[in-house]
Amino acid sequence: DRVLVLAGGISPEHEVSLRSGRRVAEALRRLDIEVQVADADAALLATLAADPPQVVFPVLHGAAGEDGAIREILELAGVPYVGAPPHACRVAYAKPTAKALVAEQGLAVPRGVTLPKSVFHDLGAPALLDRIVAALGLPLFVKPDQGGSAFGATSVDSAEALPAALVSCFAYSDTAIIEERVAGTEIAVGVLDLGDGPFALPAVEIVPDGGVYDYAARYTAGRTEFFSPARLDPATAAAAAEAAITAHSALGLRDLSRTDLIVDPGGRVRFLEVNVAPGMTETSTLPLAVEAAGLDFAVVCRELAHRALL
Ligand code: DAL
Ligand code: MG
Repeated sequence: DRVLVLAGGISPEHEVSLRSGRRVAEALRRLDIEVQVADADAALLATLAADPPQVVFPVLHGAAGEDGAIREILELAGVPYVGAPPHACRVAYAKPTAKALVAEQGLAVPRGVTLPKSVFHDLGAPALLDRIVAALGLPLFVKPDQGGSAFGATSVDSAEALPAALVSCFAYSDTAIIEERVAGTEIAVGVLDLGDGPFALPAVEIVPDGGVYDYAARYTAGRTEFFSPARLDPATAAAAAEAAITAHSALGLRDLSRTDLIVDPGGRVRFLEVNVAPGMTETSTLPLAVEAAGLDFAVVCRELAHRALL
């Protein structure tokens, strides 16, 4: 029996994925499970064909990791894997699509628009940006329509700052999301399904020291304070759990996911995005939530791997 942990990948989240992959591999090895860690590179198909693992645990973040592409290859190779199938990944990874689908299920989402790069480069763009600011107000949040770890994401406090935020965003994707920046507390809610249906882990509250949960705040120990479980009243905690399960189910996800939400000062929960390969690093929220639930991270990884074999 051997688990192949896939980590690394081609996205800007390569380093993050290596850290996540290492953590999952160490956890499984602690339970005496044989683990191989490999990158999802050109050798992958040959590796799968020559010496097929019993199960693959993809810990790849961002493009080709969370967009379903690698899982399509795993499907073709007939190797069981942990997590959502390709189509569900594609839908979840396309943030505007995921947002529209969860909104249809009744989840509150920030108001926003998508802006293709080609439109931004039109002569009429300045007037268009003015109209967007007029419609959505300030502050705004600009992020790529896909990706993760806050790459290309910028908080925008003035109309003058919007074009530069878009330029940063278009370095990572050809489509930007411009959203109202909802004031409040950011929380992350992990969802697991270990065989009895999806359940929500305790919400983890994210308090970055500079107020912005950017790449450095995410992955530098001590830069962000986490409250696990989050300091929420029971009704809000229940609403957050329900929102995460709704997102997981509505998008057809499997095994695990993490939904990122904002709780506004009125206690209303707003959906930001869902991750099909949530970070598993030392500073990531899902492992903290597993611990807060009284579960053992290693055992959870083993259960997820087992479940892929069913
Ligand atoms: N995209 C990173 C890994 C996360 O959501 O945790
Ligand atoms: Mg993300």
